[in-house]
Amino acid sequence: MRASFYVILFLNILLFDGNFLAAGLLSNPDKFIEARDADGIVKLDKRSYMRVSEGIRDTYSVVLVNQPYAEACDSCILFGKQAREISRTLLQNKPDINVIFYDIDPYEVLMVQEDLRIEYLPTLLIYPPPTRKNFHMSTAAHTRLTAMTLEELEDVNYVKNFITNGLNITLEDLEMTVPEQFNVVSYGKYFGIFVATGIASEALLAVLK
Ligand SMILES: *[C@@H]1O[C@H](CO)[C@@H](O)[C@H](O)[C@H]1NC(C)=O
Repeated sequence: MRASFYVILFLNILLFDGNFLAAGLLSNPDKFIEARDADGIVKLDKRSYMRVSEGIRDTYSVVLVNQPYAEACDSCILFGKQAREISRTLLQNKPDINVIFYDIDPYEVLMVQEDLRIEYLPTLLIYPPPTRKNFHMSTAAHTRLTAMTLEELEDVNYVKNFITNGLNITLEDLEMTVPEQFNVVSYGKYFGIFVATGIASEALLAVLK
């Protein structure tokens, strides 16, 4: 009686402790980091979505479910532009941050609609780094921003605020850095050398005369 109780308990652990059962399913982020486009976004197809939805090790996932070119959806177009700018700026300001942005068209990757319970476009989901090896996006804790109206999106900080909360970063991290100022000190230095060289060669010519 006692022995079978322990056997059942052990089986339970085997079957339901995903850490044991599904060890090693989390993917390495490197392949997805390499696949980022110029704005730092990875476009997912069905196959790559299945990998990503099972978890990327030690990495935040920012998932954009959107149709940025949908003519009938003004908020999709605006959201798509803002998300790209945010991703690009974050990558410029914090190139080593453990975040990957993914772009999914729910009409191309149909399973996303049910998996991630997408009811409106655009929808933005943020998943913190997986803490269990049997992670799956369909059940994992996350935050989501959905059914954004044009009015909400016209506030440039609306999406930014959501992302800073989800990634535990500051608004400053999402601000474009000012292009480097013209460096007056080094310009002065090189001008000085130029003048000095000029005087030296004048002097040399004078000596030679
Ligand atoms: C958020 O970031 C701050 C400062 O970098 C850190 O002290 C804090 O532990 C972080 N919080 C979470 C929940 O990661």
